[in-house]
Amino acid sequence: MEITPFKKEEIQALRAETIGTADRIHLNNAGASLPPDIVVNTMVDFLREEALYGGYEVEAKYRAQLDHTHALIAQLINAHADEIALVENASAAWDIAFNGLNFQPGDEVITSEMEYVSNVLGLLNAQKLYGIVIKMVPNDDEGNFSIPALAAAITDRTKLIAVTHIPSTAGNVLPAAAIGEVARKNNIVYLLDACQSAGQMPVDVQAIGCDMLAVTGRKYLRGPRGSGFLYVRRQMIDKLKLLFFDGRTVSHVSEQDFVVRADARRFEWYEKNPAVTLGLQKAVEYALNIGIARIWQRIQQLAFLFRQWLQAVEGITVHDQGDELCGIVTFSVAGIPATEVRAKLAVKNINVHIGLAKSTIYYMNRKGLDGIVRASVHYYNTEEEIEIVCQELRAISNQVRIQVMQTKLR
Ligand SMILES: Cc1ncc(COP(=O)(O)O)c(C=O)c1O
Repeated sequence: MEITPFKKEEIQALRAETIGTADRIHLNNAGASLPPDIVVNTMVDFLREEALYGGYEVEAKYRAQLDHTHALIAQLINAHADEIALVENASAAWDIAFNGLNFQPGDEVITSEMEYVSNVLGLLNAQKLYGIVIKMVPNDDEGNFSIPALAAAITDRTKLIAVTHIPSTAGNVLPAAAIGEVARKNNIVYLLDACQSAGQMPVDVQAIGCDMLAVTGRKYLRGPRGSGFLYVRRQMIDKLKLLFFDGRTVSHVSEQDFVVRADARRFEWYEKNPAVTLGLQKAVEYALNIGIARIWQRIQQLAFLFRQWLQAVEGITVHDQGDELCGIVTFSVAGIPATEVRAKLAVKNINVHIGLAKSTIYYMNRKGLDGIVRASVHYYNTEEEIEIVCQELRAISNQVRIQVMQTKLR
């Protein structure tokens, strides 16, 4: 499929629709992206209507539009609307899926070196509670997830493969579809954390072959905070036990019994913030209108340029490794802690974030990393912004080296 690259004017037009881009260089899209104005305005308008007319009354008025959110999300990931549950964040989605499985002592769960902390905690908790065995597949020497190592780790006790598509504190992409192929061939349930990949790159649950997928709204999807969703493949819905109930979990209830609703909305709470639901819907619609393949191409091009320029700066080490890299750029500046780099950039209205060891604990421990700088680009960032950030970083690095030299001379 031919991908139409962005023209400069289109980027400028998109930036004009995002108030936060006006006087700030936002490179913390892996934390929370700047939302488009339409997302914010939709939520503010909805909240105002609620205040004027009542929450239930306004919800009833927008019922059909609210329900459309599931269909749009399904379109985004090539699923069916009845396979989507709206939840508060990616950790909630992952927890509902993971803890819905019936673990027995000795069941094996395979994960990767790049797994996110919330998920690792879920695995460790199940190890304590049920006696599951955690098998972590380390990256190969080039920093790639190893499909042969995954295949070798599978036994007849393997119950689940749970991996993260794009890690929190590294720039590589895991081969989600190749992992799915192994899962399907061996008839193993596959749970994918697409928290950083949804909205950044095409995520197609049919092509990937995952059974469950966990996503947050605020990162590359540019949705509101406190939004997210869980995808559960139709055939898997009945196989997950329910962890909580409210009146909308069921299609029928009597004094003696109940019937659980057929679709994935059984995994949702009824009570959620409808303004946030509409905000997420607008964000998904916005991304779909632009085109995810185009977004992905631009993010990769910007990140490539960024890494190239960073590597040319004396004192900077870029940590990202692997065959396929994404918009998350991680690096260290010699002689200065990442927190100080972030603070110095913040003074210049540049947002970056810190990657702590615990957030991607297997990987960071193996690499001996803690407190690295994470600068994550989105399609609305510009080459000029990246150039400015690199100039600032060069100045920071030079300043540190001069200080070191002066100390030596004293
Ligand atoms: C890879 C990955 N998975 C999961 C999460 C958790 O997402 P949430 O905070 O929405 O629960 C994060 C958050 O940074 C993440 O980077």
